[in-house]
Amino acid sequence: MSPTRTPDVLVVGGGIIGLVTAWRAAQRGLATALVDPEPGGGAAQVAAGMLAAVTELHYGEQTLLGLNLASARRYPDFAAELTELTGHDLGYRRCGTLAVALDADDRAHLRELHALQQRSGLDSQWLSGRECRRLEPMLAPGVRGGLRVDGDHQIDPRRLAAALVTACERTGVVVHRAWAERLTVVRDRATGVVTADGTELGAGQVVLAAGSLSGRLAGIPEDVLPPVRPVKGQVVRLTMPGHTAHTARSTPFLSRTVRAVVRGSHVYLVPRESGELVVGATSEEMGWDTTVTAGGVYELLRDAHELVPGITELPFTEIRAGLRPGSPDNAPLLGPTALEGLVLATGHYRNGVLLTPVTGDALAHVLATGELPEEARPFTPRRFTAAALTEQPA
Ligand code: GLY
Repeated sequence: MSPTRTPDVLVVGGGIIGLVTAWRAAQRGLATALVDPEPGGGAAQVAAGMLAAVTELHYGEQTLLGLNLASARRYPDFAAELTELTGHDLGYRRCGTLAVALDADDRAHLRELHALQQRSGLDSQWLSGRECRRLEPMLAPGVRGGLRVDGDHQIDPRRLAAALVTACERTGVVVHRAWAERLTVVRDRATGVVTADGTELGAGQVVLAAGSLSGRLAGIPEDVLPPVRPVKGQVVRLTMPGHTAHTARSTPFLSRTVRAVVRGSHVYLVPRESGELVVGATSEEMGWDTTVTAGGVYELLRDAHELVPGITELPFTEIRAGLRPGSPDNAPLLGPTALEGLVLATGHYRNGVLLTPVTGDALAHVLATGELPEEARPFTPRRFTAAALTEQPA
């Protein structure tokens, strides 16, 4: 697209959701631009990248499960297409996940989750503690049982973000490295944004895909302001043996993602082929705070150590905090709003990496045709309008 032409679509936000939307829209032949001071940044720089439709199933989220599964099914082709276009290896691993229980209460909870998974037609297998340790010998001897889910995979979100930046470049998306400060609205229609340096960027349609910051763009009328809030997650990165210059090991430290709920908090260990071991994540309602705290690191390592005691030997690489875009029902907001020209792709909360393929497809479809595809319809932002919220079931 010529940088001077008014684009059909302007995407506000260059995290993985904004990037995939811009890439897919440009592929549909729409002249597309994107505005972000640092495309490829955002929560993906911190996320572990679990593609965990089954092990992240929560009670009351069966509608979201449908979208999660639709996206998980698309991942193999999506990853292959992105790699072919960009040459980037995304670190996509189909290694599976093992969710384990450390005590009798955890075991009862995991049994209930297993029953819910089975009722939902999902593939998961109950294992005894001994069977879990046979699969993953580094697990603590006290593990009481677990769920083996071979269909819950992983990807490296940093690689995914970098590949999507390249994909946007290769498909002619015009990238404005600037901070979008205000939405412009003319005669009840969104017409673009004004950036922090006062530049006006016009567009036929504006997609707000600014993650946890989506509710902060000035100029959005109150009744269409997305109800998105930041939910802080601190994540530690370690290095597994066999991947440093001085060590060699024939069996992997962990060969699949291992996770549990310890004292009510989720903890997961995601082993990458590169040797990185991602340990996450806290879940904190702390507003815009992204401070890494001693308490956060302590809790993560304490809980991870209960699962896999050998982690204390591993080199410590990094600790960072990111902000999940939380929504009132933990599901994303996808599609047109009551303000003509303003479309949302935000609120992906714990599932942004998993939902990247289906979000790109759904947004490109709605931008090109005006219609949300079937699987995305339950996630219309209109479900949060005052009228929808006060509607009584018949
Ligand atoms: N999906 C994992 C997390 O949000 O921590």
